[in-house]
Amino acid sequence: MTKKDALVDAARAAREHAVARFSGFKVGAALETADGTIVTGCNIENATYGLTVCAERVAMFKALSEGHREFRAVAVVADTNDPTPPCGACRQILWEFAGDIDVFLANLTEDKGTFRMKDLLPLPFDARLL
Ligand code: THU
Repeated sequence: MTKKDALVDAARAAREHAVARFSGFKVGAALETADGTIVTGCNIENATYGLTVCAERVAMFKALSEGHREFRAVAVVADTNDPTPPCGACRQILWEFAGDIDVFLANLTEDKGTFRMKDLLPLPFDARLL
């Protein structure tokens, strides 16, 4: 199994834990760190709606809180025919902490494309501008 396949499989498994009772839209994410560790996340919704956190940010905050600081790739999985790319907030967080990594999109059975963060977030605002 390739690294990409392993990352997508981890995102598929993480998606099963999604807490998405309001939208019913379950998402899984998996980050590959520089040392090859895989850290996963799922979306976690909240009755206030606005406090919902996406799978990508859950994965990133888990990884940062466990001491990881360098990343190679992220996989995002939803049960849709169209690919589910990271939302704007997640793009900012992924860019800030992971930079120009690979973004693998997939559904439960198929690859839905590989992108680079620099293409998903052109002209980013980040710490270099402070
Ligand atoms: N969601 C994610 O977790 N990641 C994405 O890339 C897109 C959207 C979640 C947020 C919310 O719980 C549900 O999907 C519907 O927007």
